[in-house]
Amino acid sequence: VSASPSRARKEAGLLVTLVCSVFAAEPKYLNPIELAVSPDGARLYIVCEGSDELTVVEAQSGKVLSRVAVGKVPKGIALSSNGATIFVANSWSDTVSAIDAQRLQVAKTYRAGFEPTGVAVSGNALYTANRIGNDVSVIDLSTGDETRRLPAGRGASYLAMFPSGVSLVSTNIYPEIGPSRSIPQSELTTINAQGSYVTHREAMVNAAGMFHTAFSKDGRLGITAQIRPKNLIPLAHVEHGFALGNSILVFGDEIGEPVQLLIDELDRYYSMPFGVAITPNAAYVSTTGADSVTVIDTSKLAAFIHSLSPRDRKRAGNDLSAAAHFVSKRIDVGRSPKGVALSPDGSRLYVANRLDDSVSVIDTAANKVERVIQLGGPEELTPRRRGERLFYNARFSFQKQFSCAGCHIEGTFDGLTWDLEPDGFGIDIVDNKPLEAVDGTEPFKWNGGNPDLETECGIRTEKFFYRSQSYSNQELADLVQFIKAMPARPNRFRAANGELTAAQERGQSIFERNKRKNGAPIPEELQCGTCHSGPKYTNQVSTSVGTKKPVDRSGLFDTPHLVNIALTAPYLHDGSARTLEEIWTVFNPDDKHGVTNDLSKDELNDLIEYLKTL
Ligand code: HEC
Ligand code: HEC
Repeated sequence: VSASPSRARKEAGLLVTLVCSVFAAEPKYLNPIELAVSPDGARLYIVCEGSDELTVVEAQSGKVLSRVAVGKVPKGIALSSNGATIFVANSWSDTVSAIDAQRLQVAKTYRAGFEPTGVAVSGNALYTANRIGNDVSVIDLSTGDETRRLPAGRGASYLAMFPSGVSLVSTNIYPEIGPSRSIPQSELTTINAQGSYVTHREAMVNAAGMFHTAFSKDGRLGITAQIRPKNLIPLAHVEHGFALGNSILVFGDEIGEPVQLLIDELDRYYSMPFGVAITPNAAYVSTTGADSVTVIDTSKLAAFIHSLSPRDRKRAGNDLSAAAHFVSKRIDVGRSPKGVALSPDGSRLYVANRLDDSVSVIDTAANKVERVIQLGGPEELTPRRRGERLFYNARFSFQKQFSCAGCHIEGTFDGLTWDLEPDGFGIDIVDNKPLEAVDGTEPFKWNGGNPDLETECGIRTEKFFYRSQSYSNQELADLVQFIKAMPARPNRFRAANGELTAAQERGQSIFERNKRKNGAPIPEELQCGTCHSGPKYTNQVSTSVGTKKPVDRSGLFDTPHLVNIALTAPYLHDGSARTLEEIWTVFNPDDKHGVTNDLSKDELNDLIEYLKTL
């Protein structure tokens, strides 16, 4: 055998390349999402949700000092008042890591509620806003015990402590579940930090998707980044005004009655406001979909608000010319800017560019990017990563109004029902759907109208959503890769070992039953598991289960998958069922959607306990 060594090497090389391309794991992008500055201004603490780390950087040199491993998908950060401890909320582990700032090691881990996202600390009390618990945990730092769980808005995610430390506010990313087709409503929850009780739950009408809040140093001005959706109007009207109003909520003693104001302009939008910071002169709002930071002149903002009559204050939220009165600049930063933090002297603003693995440093006197700190993420750019960048960027839509992430918040949903298709007002209303775990559940849409993700994300988007530049084939393929790979969050209702509780087991036998309680057989087509079958609980077939409403053009719906179904209220194609119970207690009078009318209240509860584990 005389195979030339060079050829053998070549073949071996080819084999290695082949094996690598089949088995190569997606590189771990860092995805910096939030950051904080040490009290002396010397260090940046950056929460990297992609690599499950806290990255510690020397602010002056931009040098990475340490990468501290924390829990899964960390999303929130807070420092103790002396800066000795850094708290990081691990959203998928339901914990908070307390990191010793000197040794840069995790010193202790606290248990929190479901999906702790925002974190705050006051003296001995640690708070977490729990996104899927819809509440705020209060943890006693001396004992490590969770002493209270306070009610907050749906999808409670962000906390901000008043400068005085006597109270804090929580905001929520999903609107409350109201009657079908009602105006969405969110809330600003105020919590007393000393007594740890809720002092105020103020409704924010027409806000859905509220993100970070910041206060002026004197605590008299508060600003929250938020979205004002026009989901009740056919999306085709996107040209006339806006579909997702990128806005701020302005409140506090200096303002009086809270006011909502758009930061968009008449013909140019600044999609997905997220992080907020306030200096003595200006407020900075990161806009994730626009790769920029909006600078607001706070004295002009207050003057503008005070110039409004009480009646105009209420209507100001839809005025696309308002921003001209107080926005002083838009600063371009890296891709998908998220969390922002000021240096202690206010001279620098640090911005976490989530999809660039970098931090932009803005000189707040000049309002210019002075430098960019690279955090050392993978250099390779995979199709999935490119797709993720498309998903979060609004440049494809008319006037850069919105991105996929505007409605599918962080890949999930927005809790809203939309009037998507240009078929007249109020026809074929559809509840939004989360995108985690959609791979393998085709066809897509409630009516099963789109056979694959390429159609769902491409043609449909061009025609009905963006009304603008469409994706190239390459871009569409990348976007689909990203969506296919989107992982489902861990189910919080199933025990870690997979075992079911007694109630969940009873519910499972109801789900699987083929006889009514009186012994009469249930035809196969009415057994839950016939339609909700397979790994994601869908047979991928369209049927009618008696849920057609007068405004629907058809009563045929594709069997929805049931992965993490507990989290996605409201239910049914039009969001008419506010709870899982209502699917059967209100919308199944004739037992067309499975046989449920012979079940007692307790038995229906058991069924629901089981559904939550899927
Ligand atoms: C205006 C809000 C909005 C925007 C923007 C939006 N979606 Fe959706 N999305 C929805 C709604 C509402 C549904 C449910 C539609 C239906 O079933 O008829 C949906 C459904 C989907 C589905 C099907 C899920 C399933 O289980 O059937 C996918 C996939 C999807 N969207 C991806 C995207 C992508 C990718 C983008 C960006 C290109 C995007 N969406 C932008 C609101 C939106
Ligand atoms: C004949 C097929 C079929 C059977 C049998 C069936 N389902 Fe469904 N299921 C569907 C369809 C189709 C929908 C969507 C209906 C709509 O949106 O109006 C649905 C919706 C649901 C939803 C709401 C999903 C969401 O995201 O809003 C749940 C939960 C559910 N089914 C559970 C069950 C349970 C539990 C049973 C048995 C008691 C059952 N289904 C029996 C086809 C079926």
